[in-house]
Amino acid sequence: MTLNRRNFLKGSAALGGAFALGAVLSTRGRATPEPQILTAQTTEARIAADGASPVMTYGLGDGPAGMPPTLRMRKGETFAARLVNRLDEPTTVHWHGLRIANAMDGVPEMTQPYVYPGDQFDYVFTPPDAGTFWYHPHCNTLTQMGRGLTGVLVVENPEDPVFDAEIVLNLRDWRFGAGGKFISPFKPRDAARGGTYGTLRTANWQREPIYDAPAGGLVRVRIIATDVTRIYTIGLVGADAKVIALDGNPVEHPFLLDRIDLGPGQRVDLVLRMPENEGARVALGNFRGSHPWTIAGFRSIGASLKRNLGDVVALPANPVAEADLSTAKRIPIELTATAEHKATSSICGSLGYTFWALNKVAWSGDTPDPVGPIEELKFGRSYVLEIANRTPHAHPIHLHGLSFRIQSSNKRSFLPPPTDTILLLPDERAELALIADNLGDWVIHCHIIEHQKTGMTGYFKIV
Ligand code: C2O
Ligand code: CU
Repeated sequence: MTLNRRNFLKGSAALGGAFALGAVLSTRGRATPEPQILTAQTTEARIAADGASPVMTYGLGDGPAGMPPTLRMRKGETFAARLVNRLDEPTTVHWHGLRIANAMDGVPEMTQPYVYPGDQFDYVFTPPDAGTFWYHPHCNTLTQMGRGLTGVLVVENPEDPVFDAEIVLNLRDWRFGAGGKFISPFKPRDAARGGTYGTLRTANWQREPIYDAPAGGLVRVRIIATDVTRIYTIGLVGADAKVIALDGNPVEHPFLLDRIDLGPGQRVDLVLRMPENEGARVALGNFRGSHPWTIAGFRSIGASLKRNLGDVVALPANPVAEADLSTAKRIPIELTATAEHKATSSICGSLGYTFWALNKVAWSGDTPDPVGPIEELKFGRSYVLEIANRTPHAHPIHLHGLSFRIQSSNKRSFLPPPTDTILLLPDERAELALIADNLGDWVIHCHIIEHQKTGMTGYFKIV
């Protein structure tokens, strides 16, 4: 079988059940400026074993609401979506990792108004980079994301190699009590530490789903950590895979997967070489901590395609400009705990605690700007963020609207391609280089949502 797009599409259709769930919902071919209708809504979903749960999700058009659809768009092509809010609280959509105009970034009070119940908001943008991204609200996030509003976004590049199949895995947990009912989204003592974990772990809203894939084939697996707390350490049992992209950006030299850490907000693209024998199984596991567990499985089907992992080449790079280190201005950023307890109320929900700070300022990021930017950046200029984690916990630090390069770190030898999220390790100090090439106000925050909402947020203003 020659590999072309049509075969690829047939292949995905043949994979059946998994895809019918909405794990992959292709919108290709509808390259029209008509907005897709993305409806934030509540619905019942069967995720827990012992009862249906009142989840929040995004529905696309009039389709049935299950897991939020995987939105597909093309690099360099305009995408339009109309958020319709059928929740009973305000919301917005943030397009995590996309370097788009500030007015489309989805941060209430800062880049757009709240979208109140019954209201709508039009998002129109042209993604400059291809890769694996995701979308979620930026209002009352611990509840809204915790209850389901985390969806995958794929920006396709017609120049990408085509694989025998593609599988998208949206990894997240749920905090359920008896009967699938939601329990309190956090415990204060955990929010002041590593964050509060869910009670049920899922991939694509299922416990340990198994996906069929062509025997001996090369499968692109896009893995997205959308949980509000959990840091994964991903590994495979039963097959080899190469890492081809991290946080949406291609790695220059694809390398064999051993273990890879994935903090909330981060993504990894693998090319998995399925076993030759029909029925053979591969397990994707989480190896963090002392009790590894299975996230999802893959099963070989059909006669072997006899592909070779050695044939996997680098994906075409995204157009991320390199900072000029000789002229770059250096900006220190300190992550600390804070004892200062401020009860702030917010239209976007408040946890009622302050535990964390960026450069000694505690802000939740979805209330009116209390203090001004960490720094005003000049458009087109290079900067090095000297970021220091002065806490004993890891923090996935996400910057909106820009990509940065990890230039150096006291804790790592492998320096990944440009990224929007760095999983800053305990006591890590790193230099993050970037060019301020996108105008506007861009928040930077920890993606452990309890940390964000209890103070670990700031922003840069690019003028
Ligand atoms: Cu993925 Cu400010 O967010
Ligand atoms: Cu954090």
